[in-house]
Amino acid sequence: MLMNTVENNAKNIAVFVSGGGTNLQALIDAQERGEIKNGRIVFVLASNDKAYAIERARKAGIEYQVVSRKAYAASEEYDAAILSALENRGIDLIVLAGFLSILGPTVIEKYRNKIINIHPSLIPLFCGDGFYGKKVHTAVLASGMKVTGATAHFVNEITDGGAIILQKAVPIEQGDNEDILQYRVMRQAEWEILPKAVSLFCEDRIRIVGNRTEIIGTSF
Ligand code: GAR
Repeated sequence: MLMNTVENNAKNIAVFVSGGGTNLQALIDAQERGEIKNGRIVFVLASNDKAYAIERARKAGIEYQVVSRKAYAASEEYDAAILSALENRGIDLIVLAGFLSILGPTVIEKYRNKIINIHPSLIPLFCGDGFYGKKVHTAVLASGMKVTGATAHFVNEITDGGAIILQKAVPIEQGDNEDILQYRVMRQAEWEILPKAVSLFCEDRIRIVGNRTEIIGTSF
């Protein structure tokens, strides 16, 4: 009976993707292991039809739709298309998992504090406009830093500027290049903290205090 109550209240998650979709896969795998507590992935939205992430959604039996950025001249039109793709799906949480298009203010406003992004650095370092994908790791390596990492955070109008939920540090090793570092950051940090942050959200365990968050409870 209790199980049913939890199931019926489960939050509906939409995952937005643009590329390989390894973070989507990490979410699907976590869901299959029962680690997304009180949430389920019900929809995948891809910003381009070449994204391998679409294949991952298809294999997992998750409904998906391509809303191609290129098909819309103005960002307002793209936002409207995204909102219409989400309509009637009862989406409680949007997860940007390697989604490389910019979300406009109407989407952000409608889903205020309900959009989580994964970024491949320790915010506030190496983030903001122009820092995405491998470019982040190129800049990190050029800086000479010995540590980098990943950040799961809420999305607001400032690129990579919303409240941080979880972060994990990853060492930079001698001889690293962008590919090696990107993979280490994904494997050691992104694929771990993104499913955890999503589960915490679905369990209503994230309290937003200004531009900071507090995690309710101790075990996570
Ligand atoms: C991931 O490293 C993700 O953190 C990054 O793009 C990659 C997508 O990989 N996102 C950003 O840079 C956003 N600013 P994936 O498609 O295999 O999940």
